[in-house]
Amino acid sequence: MAMQQKSTNKQIGESPMLRDVVEGLSQSPKRLPSKYFYDSAGSQYFEEICELEEYYPYRTELAMLPSIAQDISHTLQHDWDVVEFGAGSLVKIRLLLKHLPQIKRFLPIDIAGDHLQAAATKLKREFPELDIQPIAADFTNRVELPDTESTKKLGFFPGSTIGNFSPEQAVTFLEHARQSLGQGALLLIGVDTKKSPDILHRAYNDKLGVTKKFNRNILTHINREALADFDEDKFEHYAFYNPAEGRIEMHLISRERQQVSVDGYRFEILEGENIHTENSHKYTPEEFLALAARAGWRSVRKWLAGKQLFSVHLLRADD
Ligand code: AVI
Repeated sequence: MAMQQKSTNKQIGESPMLRDVVEGLSQSPKRLPSKYFYDSAGSQYFEEICELEEYYPYRTELAMLPSIAQDISHTLQHDWDVVEFGAGSLVKIRLLLKHLPQIKRFLPIDIAGDHLQAAATKLKREFPELDIQPIAADFTNRVELPDTESTKKLGFFPGSTIGNFSPEQAVTFLEHARQSLGQGALLLIGVDTKKSPDILHRAYNDKLGVTKKFNRNILTHINREALADFDEDKFEHYAFYNPAEGRIEMHLISRERQQVSVDGYRFEILEGENIHTENSHKYTPEEFLALAARAGWRSVRKWLAGKQLFSVHLLRADD
């Protein structure tokens, strides 16, 4: 067995991260949940990834949003609340806010609370009329929204973060989002498409090595928050497209046989052994809409970037 139980009587349920990490490292192959990429250094690395020439999803979607906002303007006839899942630095919402004065209240949800608060303060300076209520929460679980009366909700989930869930988890997330957003809700969601593996490979293996730093930073985050002693330098970044699963997989490969301790739980990692850190699923529009339909969402409209590089869907909740 890979894990040796620690000898203290502390309960493993003591912190969600500790529980997730111990569970993940006890599996074969070992895995770590990708949500733990995002401490403040990880959020910063992700922003750098978005600026990379090779990482097409961010800039492609960004370029699509102004005209999408204009296209949906007539669909949003009354006042709307926007709920953004995994809001990060709040760059993309600005493109909606500029074209959609119908948005009166903005509820951004993100696991990185400090980063979110700072971004929300900055946004408020630019849009003083907007009521902003940041919610520091893990949106991979169902999030209770504050009572905002009967104002209709537009969910916003850009960036193809939906791809970081398994298809089953994606259906669960979409169901939860539909329940949280309520009757008559809409959801504007960015979804990365299937394309040449060469383009995909380059997007996750950039020349500057930012994705490598982003991948290995998960270990440093876990060291700090779950009292572990990973040495980043003993792991190699490995990302590839798995066509059978329709996803990019990111792994950390151990350069040597090593022992790691996580708050007293000990794990042996063999030379060449992998820790699976992320999946990034890519969907054709048809595949994605079939998934959304299972969660009670139907298509209102879809937009595809040139060369079908990226898709954005507007969905309506089945009431
Ligand atoms: C946040 N998410 C959509 C990114 C992706 O492309 O799956 C995370 C990422 N991983 C490596 N590069 C970017």
